[in-house]
Amino acid sequence: MPDNRSLEGKTAIITGATSGIGRATAILMAQLGANVVASGRRVAEGEETARLASVDGGVCRFVQCDVTDRSQVEALVRATVDEFGRLDCAFNNAGLFLDSGRLHEADDEMFARTMEVNVTGTWNCMKAELAVMAEQGAGAIVNDSSIAGIRGSRGRPAYTAAKHAVVGLSRTCALDYVRYGIRVNAICPGPIDTAMMDEVDSHDAELRARREKALPMGRYGTSEEVAGLVAWLFSDAAAYVTGQAYAVDGGLSAS
Ligand SMILES: NC(=O)c1ccc[n+]([C@@H]2O[C@H](COP(=O)([O-])OP(=O)(O)OC[C@H]3O[C@@H](n4cnc5c(N)ncnc54)[C@H](O)[C@@H]3O)[C@@H](O)[C@H]2O)c1
Repeated sequence: MPDNRSLEGKTAIITGATSGIGRATAILMAQLGANVVASGRRVAEGEETARLASVDGGVCRFVQCDVTDRSQVEALVRATVDEFGRLDCAFNNAGLFLDSGRLHEADDEMFARTMEVNVTGTWNCMKAELAVMAEQGAGAIVNDSSIAGIRGSRGRPAYTAAKHAVVGLSRTCALDYVRYGIRVNAICPGPIDTAMMDEVDSHDAELRARREKALPMGRYGTSEEVAGLVAWLFSDAAAYVTGQAYAVDGGLSAS
């Protein structure tokens, strides 16, 4: 469990918070007392995240932001600091999965878009966030990679390349910013039951059942189970943890 009280009053940005892992993390961080800025492209879904996270007195605002647009990312970070005075935690979670097939047959546009959102988006966010955190002399960043960021994944060359890049960015920035009191880690979820996984296999119940059964825990993870790891990494309980790529995969990477 995260050290609950250490997140009270902290300010956190979460990207891609209109659904799935981002939304669950926004809700958990608000429950733990953080001031949360939930961001994403879809306004109605983002407002719904803010509403859900604000139940029981949680503080959560929605700010629209496409992570591929540098000026929108800068505006997101500015709006956060203007309202809450600082930026303690940033969960760079926005991402997308598009590919299904081998590299020589893959579409170049698909590769470019996969890199744009997953890598350039993370780069844009870290650039704006690290500038504020370095000035403060404190902060913690968690980047959402994937199990495909630490091992190969058949039929997913673009996604795998992008998520490896996210781990590389996290490790390098952990080293470059440790002197500023900033911790940077990546998380590497296995299959999690979200809209992203629905795209892969919700059309085929048998395929899903087979895929779940093949996992050590025999099921997909939940967004809430990923959110718990993110909140722990932001908490003081993880004060000595930086530059790591944490699997949250029900044991998949151990096999
Ligand atoms: N679900 C899984 O099995 C799984 C496994 C490993 C890693 N992940 C990673 O977790 C993260 C969250 O995915 P999820 O599973 O919650 O699925 P999801 O589709 O519910 O969430 C992805 C979010 O990113 C947002 N997004 C996409 N492009 C964006 C952009 N340009 N700007 C801002 N937001 C954008 C989407 O709108 C969505 O809210 C992703 O980075 C994904 O790669 C998911």
